[in-house]
Amino acid sequence: MLILVVGATGHLGQHVVRQLVADGHTVRAMTRVPVRARAVVAAGAEVVVGDLRDAASLHDAVCGAEVVVSAAHSMLGTGKSSSAKVDDAGQCALIAAARHAGVSHFVFTSVLGAALTHPVDFWRTKAKVEQQLQVSGLAFTIVRPAAFMEMHAYELIGKAVASGKRVVIFGPGDNPRNYVAAADVASLVVHAVGDASLRGATIEVGGPENLTTRQVIAIFERVTGRRATVVSIPLPVLRAMAPLLAPLHGGVSRILRASVVGETTNQAFDPASFQGRFPVPLTRLENWARERLA
Ligand SMILES: NC(=O)c1ccc[n+]([C@@H]2O[C@H](COP(=O)([O-])OP(=O)(O)OC[C@H]3O[C@@H](n4cnc5c(N)ncnc54)[C@H](OP(=O)(O)O)[C@@H]3O)[C@@H](O)[C@H]2O)c1
Repeated sequence: MLILVVGATGHLGQHVVRQLVADGHTVRAMTRVPVRARAVVAAGAEVVVGDLRDAASLHDAVCGAEVVVSAAHSMLGTGKSSSAKVDDAGQCALIAAARHAGVSHFVFTSVLGAALTHPVDFWRTKAKVEQQLQVSGLAFTIVRPAAFMEMHAYELIGKAVASGKRVVIFGPGDNPRNYVAAADVASLVVHAVGDASLRGATIEVGGPENLTTRQVIAIFERVTGRRATVVSIPLPVLRAMAPLLAPLHGGVSRILRASVVGETTNQAFDPASFQGRFPVPLTRLENWARERLA
């Protein structure tokens, strides 16, 4: 079975490619910049150059594919790579191309909490694309992951702790939220590709624990044996800066808004809603961090 993975070079996409190849599938990895696909080529994928903003490239990319997995986004993008152009118009163009090519299953990576009424546009966009997919006529599965450990626990926190740099956090850091390993989300995606009963399903996936930012810092302190110096940007500063930054950098403004929402609303995920229903063991952050930093 030929499977197109869009976003194949990202945190999630790389795991999806590796697991699909290991399962014996033929995988076509889409990227805008072929050199970024070196790791997935080494894993056994073929590469196609494509861009969600270029409909012609999408028609070529989906040609002959039985399944499309979309794991791309541009949450931080600006200008020509803005989220509106990539996450909204681009994903809708991919759905249209898949429909036109007769793709038999489309797996869309959304985000936990996606809703048309969400205070942050990225979550609204994901909900809009979910709806577009639901009425497209394609068989689909929607996966809504929590924040990836790779980005939100390691890149933004753990890396600074490990290298002795100051850890800058947005808000007080005491509201529990959920972190999931990208490899666990990939396992769910790959399971959904093979399980026909999940056609038409929307599946929320998070990690086994809800942790405050302070608890994430403490985990990386334990794992690295280093004390972190933490600088917290107060919520009123984030609230004031988000609209001021919007015309300068929509992506950073979005992150500030998301941080305020993340610190002031319920962000917990109930792992019991996932465990037992799917054959995917969920990785604890401390175990993930020990392996990452080994
Ligand atoms: N990161 C998280 O915490 C998180 C949480 C919940 C849901 N998600 C969702 O999970 C999916 C994967 O996220 P990720 O964090 O793994 O992504 P990532 O590491 O940030 O990588 C982004 C990917 O998107 C691709 N991309 C960006 N702009 C593109 C465009 N114009 N055309 C085609 N491809 C484009 C990039 O491909 P090239 O640069 O190779 O072209 C890259 O592979 C996304 O749908 C995201 O919204 C992520």
